[in-house]
Amino acid sequence: MPFVTTTEMFAKAYAGGYAVGAFNVNNMEIIQGIADAAAETRAPLILQVSAGARKYARHGYLMKLIEAAEADTGLPIAVHLDHGEDFDVCKSCIDGGFTSVMIDGSKHSFAENIDVTRKVVEYAHAHGVVVEGELGRLSGIEDDVSVSDEDAGYTQPDEVEEFVTKTGVDSLAIAIGTSHGAFKFKPGQKPRLRFDILKEVERRLPNFPIVLHGSSSVIPKYVETINANGGNLADAIGIPEDMLREAAKLAVCKINIDSDLRLAMTAGVREALVKAPAEFDPRKYLSPARDNIKKLVKAKIINVLGCDNKI
Ligand code: G3H
Ligand code: 13P
Ligand code: ZN
Repeated sequence: MPFVTTTEMFAKAYAGGYAVGAFNVNNMEIIQGIADAAAETRAPLILQVSAGARKYARHGYLMKLIEAAEADTGLPIAVHLDHGEDFDVCKSCIDGGFTSVMIDGSKHSFAENIDVTRKVVEYAHAHGVVVEGELGRLSGIEDDVSVSDEDAGYTQPDEVEEFVTKTGVDSLAIAIGTSHGAFKFKPGQKPRLRFDILKEVERRLPNFPIVLHGSSSVIPKYVETINANGGNLADAIGIPEDMLREAAKLAVCKINIDSDLRLAMTAGVREALVKAPAEFDPRKYLSPARDNIKKLVKAKIINVLGCDNKI
């Protein structure tokens, strides 16, 4: 099966009250761990590639590895550009075989975001590729951010209809309190997501797929393993899994996960090397890392996304 777009995945996810996992990939072990987990749970899959991943692993290598995952599992896989910064990187990924791209115009003004997003949509749709846009700014909750600054970062529901109509995007990433990385809330701060904003966006955009970035839960088990093996990740904190499950039952059809993969992989490598400090065969420490990725992704699919047995 060739790679698929997210159109059918999202229609089924919306109707079924679940979300599809969008996992960031950077190397073979990560791709294998994710693909094996999705194959065993019969889950649709989005593998997403950032500009940094393309720089690290190179476009051609990643495409061949993802092709191998597809051939090996027979899963419907969408290959997605994560955080496309401008038209040129989106075009390069569309020309290079991706089936979905994100144009992240959230750093621009509303009008400029519309302009660049519409330009990407025109090119993408002419090539059978779907587009994710973004409205609102994701960021960590900083000490010196006032309530009005914090509110300004959230997606403004009264902008979403105009944005979607004028750009023609196929899905929309919104900011409701998630953020990238492993330190999403201040120590002692109660994690919260703005479900009121999500519900208002859903009301204004019926049947339209919404995307959540920054959705790692920073699984304590992996943080503890890293810290017990020479790491220092005090105060790492993520989005509670029950909140993500709740969002998946609403309009959220795509949930982005990268930091949890990094933590699972790093925990595997650190634990193996601390246990056997003289080890220098990479297969010996990358195998447990790959196993951790697989376990993590299976648990996400079943307990958080709810997309098991959907193919
Ligand atoms: O949202 C960003 C992803 O975690 C990708 O991170 O740009 O370091 O590959 P990266
Ligand atoms: P996390 O850092 O929470 O995993 O978010 C990843 C992401 O949003 C990729 O686009
Ligand atoms: Zn992101």
